[in-house]
Amino acid sequence: MPGEIVVGVDGSAPSRAALEWAADDALRMHAPLLVLHAVERWPYQIAKFPSEGSIDALTRAAQRILADALAVVHSRQPDVEVTGEIVEAPPAPALRERAGGAVEIVVGSRGLGGFSGALLGSVSVHVAGHVHRPVVVVRPGRERVFGEVVAGIDDSEECEPALAYAFEQAALRGAGLRAIYAWQLPVHAYAPEAGYDLDEIRAAHHKVAADRIAAYRDRYPQVDVVEDVRCAHPVDALTQASERADLVVVGSHGRGGLGSVLLGSVSRGVLHHAHGAVAVVRA
Ligand SMILES: Nc1ncnc2c1ncn2[C@@H]1O[C@H](COP(=O)(O)OP(=O)(O)O)[C@@H](O)[C@H]1O
Ligand SMILES: [Mg+2]
Repeated sequence: MPGEIVVGVDGSAPSRAALEWAADDALRMHAPLLVLHAVERWPYQIAKFPSEGSIDALTRAAQRILADALAVVHSRQPDVEVTGEIVEAPPAPALRERAGGAVEIVVGSRGLGGFSGALLGSVSVHVAGHVHRPVVVVRPGRERVFGEVVAGIDDSEECEPALAYAFEQAALRGAGLRAIYAWQLPVHAYAPEAGYDLDEIRAAHHKVAADRIAAYRDRYPQVDVVEDVRCAHPVDALTQASERADLVVVGSHGRGGLGSVLLGSVSRGVLHHAHGAVAVVRA
């Protein structure tokens, strides 16, 4: 049996979407589900707030959030083995701590806090930036099934774990896999004297993509693969593909990325702009 799937809930609509996504994935993976709700007390422990009474209210609210979440799982996926946990800690570190033995961590794109215009909440950004397991960030309002998983690939080794996760997800869902390799000309190539042979460049990029997924084609013969090689910015290409995908999978970094930053520019851009669920898989 695989490790557990961990989902963070805070009672918000995006966290409900994350919960449903996690329950469905637990059934597909035959994995147990851990529903975690973190209660942060410190914002309430300032002198202006009365102590005992409000803390009890906080505990009651947490218990209600967790009970509601467990009820959602029981009614949506009665066969999934689910446990709930309330921890007294800030949510991001609490989720990170549970990630060790998990097969994946699932969170909503937003939560109850944050500012209204934000595309991503701080917990989701933090978890996606730190956890060494696949992190799935789920958006609410997407019940439709498209039958396609999208994987963003580049010419670096860094995308291997993302590709492996994407193929596994496609196989579990009986979905197809669209491997998107978006390449761009260096800016100086637009200078007429540079003399690039565009056909040659295009052919070379197609070969990069084909080589990268050849082994997975053999391992997952049941998954229909589309090699989608485009001259475009990867964030644009992946965001566009996300409109018709059940899941978009990216690595945390690509070629040329700074190892010191938590997320590469493509994964960050896709997390912010994708229309549906995004999995970030760290190498
Ligand atoms: N207290 C919490 N306990 C567990 N998970 C949480 C908690 N707060 C947020 N999360 C998870 O993180 C997701 C994003 O929320 P968050 O980053 O806090 O957004 P916002 O900044 O909009 O509140 C939520 O949908 C939920 O999955
Ligand atoms: Mg929040």
